[in-house]
Amino acid sequence: MPEELRDIRNKALSELDMVQGLKDLEAWRIRYLGKKSRLTQILRSLGTLALEERKIIGAEANDLKKVLELNLAKKQETLREALFASPEGQEFDVTLPGRPVTIGKLHPTTQILNEICEIFSNMGFQVVEGPDVEWDYYNFEALNIPQDHPARDMFATLWIDIGAKERARLLRTHTSPMQIRLMERQQPPIRAIVPGRVYRYEATDATHESMFYQVEGLAVDKNITLADLKGTLFEFCRRLFGAERKVRFRCDYFPFVEPGVEVAIACLACQGNGCRLCGDSGWIEILGAGMVHPDVLTRVNIDPTRYTGFAFGLGVERIPMLRYGIEDIRLFYTNDLRFLKQF
Ligand code: DAH
Repeated sequence: MPEELRDIRNKALSELDMVQGLKDLEAWRIRYLGKKSRLTQILRSLGTLALEERKIIGAEANDLKKVLELNLAKKQETLREALFASPEGQEFDVTLPGRPVTIGKLHPTTQILNEICEIFSNMGFQVVEGPDVEWDYYNFEALNIPQDHPARDMFATLWIDIGAKERARLLRTHTSPMQIRLMERQQPPIRAIVPGRVYRYEATDATHESMFYQVEGLAVDKNITLADLKGTLFEFCRRLFGAERKVRFRCDYFPFVEPGVEVAIACLACQGNGCRLCGDSGWIEILGAGMVHPDVLTRVNIDPTRYTGFAFGLGVERIPMLRYGIEDIRLFYTNDLRFLKQF
């Protein structure tokens, strides 16, 4: 066995002298120090030898291993140095112009959300967020939509569990539950907006997604009237769509407000003359709103004889869709860079 170790040593070292490149060096390492190398086999089988023999062979084999490892490291260094000094080692041409760095962009939804939040912040609204997973109580009950209320049909709901009545969990179908959470937390004056994702259990098509964004707004204080609602939303529409844009208010129904209104702007495509986008009406609905229902205030211990408030809810993706003539809402969330890079 000692002769064999000597042979390995001679062969290994003379072969190492011939090695020219890092690839060859790795092959050499595997051949002489790898798991299947003869040396490793010998080291592994030491336990089967008689004590005397084990001492001698063991010492010699371990010695050899160290020598080989040392020489390997040395060779590695010389090869690296040589490579760096050689012309091939300097593959870069310092005179070339740099490659352009592609800078990421904000998602179109994020951009419009920032814009909306900025407008309302400037009007004195706080920006707050709430949970995507909601209780039935906040999403429906507390907003005057009890079990079996027909308004539940307005919201195709993704249920998480159908627990006992008000304790059932769901993915919020609108941002309105945050009205309740805000008023529970804080007595008036309250002035806040809530941007966030909402979910609907619906077949998707060009105008429907199962996940989209809304911005909720809430203002509660003494002497708040429908005129405040109108003034605030008029101003918002002007800032977002330009001072010339016509804005229309009409009656609408939502269980948690009384009266309820719908806000529409003159169609961006046809300027109000009627086209395919606005269904020939000349108007595009962008907001639901109203005066917070007294029953809702009472439920969160705000006295409706002292305080009043207005609330509104806005669909976010509609706005860039109108602005840029995007015809399919699904484009927003399929991560196609050809689409996203345009904004
Ligand atoms: N939550 C309603 C929806 O998703 C929108 C809405 C309507 C919100 C009226 C409001 C409101 O705050 O007052 O369709």
